[in-house]
Amino acid sequence: MTSDLALPIADEALAGRLLGRMAVVEEALAGHVQSRAPFVTAAASHLMEAGGKRFRPLLVLLAAETGDRAGSDEVITAACVVELTHLASLYHEDVMDEADLRRGAVSANARWDNHVAILTGDFLFSKSSELTAELGADAVRIQARTFTRLVEGQIMETVEPGPDEDALAHYLDVVAGKTGSLLATSALYGARFGGASREVEQALTSYGEIVGSAFQLSDDILDIASESDESGKTPGTDLREGVPTLPVLMARASTDPADARLLELLALDLGDDDLHAEALDLLRKHPAMDEARAYVLARAAEAKALLAALPDGPVRTALESFADVVAVRTT
Ligand code: IPE
Ligand code: IPE
Ligand code: MG
Repeated sequence: MTSDLALPIADEALAGRLLGRMAVVEEALAGHVQSRAPFVTAAASHLMEAGGKRFRPLLVLLAAETGDRAGSDEVITAACVVELTHLASLYHEDVMDEADLRRGAVSANARWDNHVAILTGDFLFSKSSELTAELGADAVRIQARTFTRLVEGQIMETVEPGPDEDALAHYLDVVAGKTGSLLATSALYGARFGGASREVEQALTSYGEIVGSAFQLSDDILDIASESDESGKTPGTDLREGVPTLPVLMARASTDPADARLLELLALDLGDDDLHAEALDLLRKHPAMDEARAYVLARAAEAKALLAALPDGPVRTALESFADVVAVRTT
């Protein structure tokens, strides 16, 4: 249960409205993970109850504030749709990553098994689709397209870039698909069902896409930088799985002889605990970490520039801080 917003909002009236609506979203979400089979309910509510930042529904609610129907039921429904889609993808993601920890809790695949985790992800995605139907055919099309991009991103991550393909460009494409797509849709749904103008809707959709990519890239940095399990996930998972994320791709570009050992390690299978620990340690100290952080900050600045399409005021300010918070994540 989220009792606070994952975003500092200075304007008290806005913060109050968002908190109130987020409580409605939470209650609705708890209902949407119910199944007629108690075991399915237990598996589906497991990660929902474990927490999570609820960034995507928050973005829906915030984007809706740019229109004249921010308080509509459709906005609440859209907020549930994006969180359910996200949650479904996390169940699948943890199977792919063989992750043990999620949202500070035991992952579904570890608590039960891969079959349960995959089918629970499918159940949640179906729930999300059922709910999207209440929002009309356009929303269904958008949601389907989003899930296509998300899954393509997840799959493309497991595939090596082609011989003529730039590894960084490949990776940025993966990131835009697996995370940019759903944040873009969160912003789009919020703007549309909140009654914003077409111009604002377009600006917010592009904003969401970039913020989403920045969010994923800072998640990747966090995967390497977090010292303990403070992120609620096991640090160094991407490295162990051999997924070359932004800092790794940047480190690989180094021609400094002092990086020879790190480059050698990055070319190995890091399933071995000692090699993994050594690579993680070298990478944490490497300038590629700051280079990656600078890249993410530049993307956040790019996203914020798109907000020029919005009138000045607390909503725009909150969307600006949303981009900042996402770019410099600690959880
Ligand atoms: C985790 O998403 C996976 C990514 C796309 C980075 P979040 O960091 O939003 O996860 P929760 O919802 O807060 O657990
Ligand atoms: C995010 O990918 C998962 C999806 C968008 C489906 P990550 O690989 O970064 O997620 P974590 O690190 O496992 O949370
Ligand atoms: Mg992962």
